[in-house]
Amino acid sequence: MLQIKRAGHSTLITPDIERMIDYFTRIVGLSLAAREKNRAILATKSGPEAIVLERGSAVEAPRLSLQVAPGSDLGEIASRLKKAGIKSERRSDITPGIAEALTFKDPKGTTLEIFSDFDFAPEDNTFTGVMPLKFGHIAYTCPDVQGTVKFYCDMLGFRVSDWRSDFFAFLRCSRDHHTVNFLRDPKAAIHHIAFEVRDWSDIKRACDMLARNKITLTWGPIRHIIGHNIAIYHKNPDGVVIEFFTDLDQMHDEELGYFEPRPWHQDRPQRPKVWGDETPSNWWGPMSRSAPQGDHAPAKAPAHAAPAKSRKPVLAHARKRPVEKKSRPTSKPRR
Ligand SMILES: [Fe+2]
Repeated sequence: MLQIKRAGHSTLITPDIERMIDYFTRIVGLSLAAREKNRAILATKSGPEAIVLERGSAVEAPRLSLQVAPGSDLGEIASRLKKAGIKSERRSDITPGIAEALTFKDPKGTTLEIFSDFDFAPEDNTFTGVMPLKFGHIAYTCPDVQGTVKFYCDMLGFRVSDWRSDFFAFLRCSRDHHTVNFLRDPKAAIHHIAFEVRDWSDIKRACDMLARNKITLTWGPIRHIIGHNIAIYHKNPDGVVIEFFTDLDQMHDEELGYFEPRPWHQDRPQRPKVWGDETPSNWWGPMSRSAPQGDHAPAKAPAHAAPAKSRKPVLAHARKRPVEKKSRPTSKPRR
């Protein structure tokens, strides 16, 4: 069906658009590419649009833009979608950078905006905030994770990189380990948005910048095990969890079928798999405190608190039993 190449931008509804423009420009370090009465378009300093803010009463992320190959015929894609039973609508002037897109809803109700060509935002040479490289990934909660994963794989060309048990899926559409996440929860909603930064020194710089602005981390710095990204988390002024990450696993060659080998990988080679529910949330050590509600840190110390010698059998166990049948409570999302 379609072959998505990358995520474009996420549209966020906010009750206080001025506050969010200030946050995304001064703290995150995006560029204000365009400003309308009830809308703002923000791009990374290197050009691609990343976030669209719209004024509204509830905090939500109703739309996600996804790019197919440049030059693709949107009319032909619409025909293919129709044959697959998906009714799409052609829309124009999505953003200053996206002149045309096909829109339709995914199973959890997010409107997808499929575009083939876009223009970079005007150059902005100011140095402000964290200045991430790109909009890295977006995670959603939804009640039917399996159905949503099937839709993204069958209809949009995503591949499953990893599962945590049967309730948390990591899907890629490029080399990056994941561009979308789906986490089981009765309510479909945004879970977090993640921006990629250059390296560990940018993570450190982001920590200092957030602290300088009285924004405390809700989790991290950590190195995840699933995806192996180094990550920090905080909440933006609307309460949406924002992640900065680097060192995410890369699948450079789909035919080889494994992520580029790294010394911190658990498996040799590290292939897509189902990780057991007991898999530690991160590789560096125990969490020192409970995570706030809505974050995706574990509420209590899980298996990562175990001594190092017990870690290997735990992971081996996860490999031996690739599918966890038991369901788990959804109120404490974990990574
Ligand atoms: Fe993430």
